[in-house]
Amino acid sequence: MKAVEVAPNVLVYKSLDHSVFDFLKNYSKVCLLADENTKKHCYPLIKDYLPANHTVFQIESGEENKNLKTCELIWQFLTDQSVDRKSILINLGGGVIGDMGGFCAATFKRGIDFVQMPTTLLSQVDASVGGKLGIDFKGFKNHIGVFKMPRKVIVYPNFLKTLSDRELVSGYAEVVKHALIKDKDHWKQLKKIEDLNQIEWDVVIPHSIEIKADVVEEDPFEYGVRKILNFGHTIGHAIESHFLETSNHKLLHGEAIAVGMICESYLSLKKDLIDENVLNNINSHFNSIFPIVSFTDEDIEQILPLVIQDKKNSHGKINLSILKGAGTAIYDQEFSLEEIKESINYYRENIPALNKN
Ligand SMILES: NC(=O)c1ccc[n+]([C@@H]2O[C@H](COP(=O)([O-])OP(=O)(O)OC[C@H]3O[C@@H](n4cnc5c(N)ncnc54)[C@H](O)[C@@H]3O)[C@@H](O)[C@H]2O)c1
Repeated sequence: MKAVEVAPNVLVYKSLDHSVFDFLKNYSKVCLLADENTKKHCYPLIKDYLPANHTVFQIESGEENKNLKTCELIWQFLTDQSVDRKSILINLGGGVIGDMGGFCAATFKRGIDFVQMPTTLLSQVDASVGGKLGIDFKGFKNHIGVFKMPRKVIVYPNFLKTLSDRELVSGYAEVVKHALIKDKDHWKQLKKIEDLNQIEWDVVIPHSIEIKADVVEEDPFEYGVRKILNFGHTIGHAIESHFLETSNHKLLHGEAIAVGMICESYLSLKKDLIDENVLNNINSHFNSIFPIVSFTDEDIEQILPLVIQDKKNSHGKINLSILKGAGTAIYDQEFSLEEIKESINYYRENIPALNKN
């Protein structure tokens, strides 16, 4: 089957057949990890192409299960299957399955091979690329984890046909992030879009992966330039963690990151790195695509301590990756907690206001 190799070992397929999975013949055991949704919707599309004796383990979907408890279940499954160092785990799912399945594989018997088969937009353009694996811990996002590259990433945009609109919008946050930090022309095209149905995913997904893969290749372990991929994530992760812990209405990853990108764009303006026009364009595009998030004063007070825990911080300082014009980003920009608070207040005061016009 003809694939487009958008980055080393990251292959995008328009259709799948036996040849895509031929490499699995060399492994002593093939196990597959899925959740109830990907088992139902995605597994049937590949089942017949996998070695006949493969085994499947299903876990419960959702960020709230991306934790040590579920890892124990996965490690137990691998143990029960007598998985050895020559076995492989296929992670069939969104970012939760990919991050956690990859983490379990990377640590089981000091590491077995794994394949990422991302089934959400977010995981196809972002989570499955770059080797970051991990789980949440005591309310902190991706607090425990490792870097390890998968044996392969098999991207099949057709999986998205069964994805909900809300999940698609969430994934779009990472598509637009890649454009804003690294590709001015792509941002120019995206900002005209008012409805995600206008997007040709077969074109946009490989392009977005390329942007991320280029950055990762330059700095695989995030000592420098890779930090630009965290644009929107320092504040966004804190918001996501907060609502995960305290609210019945949990935010999806991309929904929280979209808020984070507006806050961090506002901070880019404060440092004179973007002009008002760029910020207004970001606000109006985001406002037309992403849901509005409401914050009480109490929410903001609880979000701020979570920002301090972010992994990009060092020596007790808050370091953000922010924009330097549309299509470029810079990293290690220091901000105070007071400025972070101001940016969330900016979101609170301006975004719903925009929506009313
Ligand atoms: N490792 C990284 O570099 C990286 C980057 C970005 C995000 N992430 C992580 O990714 C996670 C979010 O990933 P996500 O947005 O893919 O969420 P997810 O894995 O929770 O999937 C979202 C939902 O969609 C369902 N689903 C998945 N594929 C489907 C399909 N094809 N059809 C129908 N339903 C389907 C899932 O069962 C789940 O209910 C977060 O934990 C985040 O921290 C990691």
